[in-house]
Amino acid sequence: MKTKVVKISADDKAEKYEEAVLYLKTDNVVGIPTETVYGLAGNAFSELAVKRIFEAKGRPQDNPLIVHISEFSEIYDLVSEVPSVAEMLAKEFWPGPLTMILPKSEKIPFCVTAGLDSVAVRCPSHPVARKLIKNCGLPLAAPSANISGKPSPTKAIHVFKDLDGKIPLIIDGGESEEGVESTVISLCTPVPKLLRPGNVTLTELQRVLGNVLVDDAVLNPLKEGEKVSSPGMKYKHYSPDAQVVILKGSYSDFCSYVNERKTENTYAMVFDDEGDGLNVEFFSYGKKNDYRSLSNKLFDILRELDEKGAKQCFVRCPDDNSDDLAVLNRLLRAAAFRVIDLGDGV
Ligand code: TXA
Ligand code: MG
Repeated sequence: MKTKVVKISADDKAEKYEEAVLYLKTDNVVGIPTETVYGLAGNAFSELAVKRIFEAKGRPQDNPLIVHISEFSEIYDLVSEVPSVAEMLAKEFWPGPLTMILPKSEKIPFCVTAGLDSVAVRCPSHPVARKLIKNCGLPLAAPSANISGKPSPTKAIHVFKDLDGKIPLIIDGGESEEGVESTVISLCTPVPKLLRPGNVTLTELQRVLGNVLVDDAVLNPLKEGEKVSSPGMKYKHYSPDAQVVILKGSYSDFCSYVNERKTENTYAMVFDDEGDGLNVEFFSYGKKNDYRSLSNKLFDILRELDEKGAKQCFVRCPDDNSDDLAVLNRLLRAAAFRVIDLGDGV
């Protein structure tokens, strides 16, 4: 299969979307831009489309998909119940990078939810994604458009590199602004529970909901045989081929540690305005203590490490304040939870 890439911008008219709409209406899958990461979209009501999504990504069958809608009113087809907290969250954060888990409706096939009685729903803010959903008149099931286990794609070229020859069409809607996947919150538990941190932060959720629990798997490795609330958390994720190690501590200790361990293919990820004193090639991944800036280039850099043939990469650790949870969560997984504390130096 030949994979076509078509650029579409927010102002383009309906004709531009026709090819994608036709593919989606006929159970085919399309790579689409969203503000978080690119998605691999298919008709959420079609078992065939969903099967094609799982096949193209090589995704384990027990990992459920998020269903995307273009406005709140479309939620009623997907869920059996809309609690008032869902309305409150939507009012505050939709369209945007927040996914809510709610009891599923009968119309959603179990292949979307991997057999669960709940379904994940999100209304993305990317204008191209919303227009596409509107023009199809269908909710779109879409996981991130990467090969399973690889960093999520934030540019159309990332999708092309992973899925060339496996899907007919990719829509290039520019770089994803947020850079990390949506925040996932379950509203099926007695107290709402954060399953995956994203750029709608824990503090923002608490402001609307009051008490919010944070799933253990957000910042900790799973214990042997532990049951997971969100199946995606048990899989190795975001991992480049290089061995990633997170270093906690001061910048000067970071430099000494890294310089001592330098080999031919050693890289570093540091905060903006750092890099002096390092003897290895480095990437600046964003402003310290600014979670939006840190999340933005993260996956792009993890992919670039692979392209450069990196063998090891040492990363400056973001502070573990609750706003940086998304960045820390993705880095911990990229590093397979390898974190070294260099001490308290300033
Ligand atoms: O930003 C995003 O959320 C992107 C864009 C494309 O919207 N999508 C995305 O999808 O990241 P994916 O499939 O890569 O991650 C979905 C996560 C997985 O960890 C999955 O286990 C969890 O959401 N999930 C989906 N349905 C669930 C459910 N019913 N209960 C618990 N977790 C669920
Ligand atoms: Mg994913």
